[in-house]
Amino acid sequence: MDHFSYDLLTWYDRHHRDLPWRTGPGDRLKGERADPYHVWLSEIMLQQTTVQAVKAYYEKFLARWPRVEDLAAAETDEVMAAWAGLGYYARARNLKKCAETIAREHGGVFPDTLEGLKALPGIGDYTAAAIAAIAFDRPETVVDGNVERVVTRLFAIETPLPAAKPEIRSWTAKLTPRERPGDFAQAMMDLGATICTPKRPACALCPFRAHCLALANDDPERFPLKMPK
Ligand code: ADE
Repeated sequence: MDHFSYDLLTWYDRHHRDLPWRTGPGDRLKGERADPYHVWLSEIMLQQTTVQAVKAYYEKFLARWPRVEDLAAAETDEVMAAWAGLGYYARARNLKKCAETIAREHGGVFPDTLEGLKALPGIGDYTAAAIAAIAFDRPETVVDGNVERVVTRLFAIETPLPAAKPEIRSWTAKLTPRERPGDFAQAMMDLGATICTPKRPACALCPFRAHCLALANDDPERFPLKMPK
């Protein structure tokens, strides 16, 4: 493991956010695998919704439908009603379809590869990579908006978004360790959400501060650059 991922994971062990899909019976941090159903449910909910808003919905869904087979057997109307308030209702319809596919075609077991996951309703590149890394410990490259901000700052990437996406992906892939890739992905998200924020980042507290090129150039907020609309 190189020093970047080591420093980040060390920071994460101390400063990770306590989110319901990360803890539960037993401590799932430090490389222990989370339940794929829990990871999938949280990642679908988090797609266009903030962590803060998702927490209560996530707890409600799991209390009501503790296993993917329970969600598969639920009435679609009930699932839609429980989703009300989260928005982007296509996500809820796909959630239900995906649960049914897993129950019916996969014996209630989530596929553990990118290809298998991407074949399911509502699971695209990002979500497949997140589930593979977090639930199955696969060193997949997980890039969301937080990761884009962290990486463009770390390497002072002058290419604007969206053109910078391949470059960001390739740097993220290089940084992703073979050990604890799921914690690494979530650590990048936490860093982006709590330290490497869009405005006034808390660089003094950042585990990357000694290596960040944007900070060395005194203007982290300039990144990521964006194409004029
Ligand atoms: N946003 C999307 N997935 C997340 C996760 N697993 N942890 C924190 N923020 C997230």
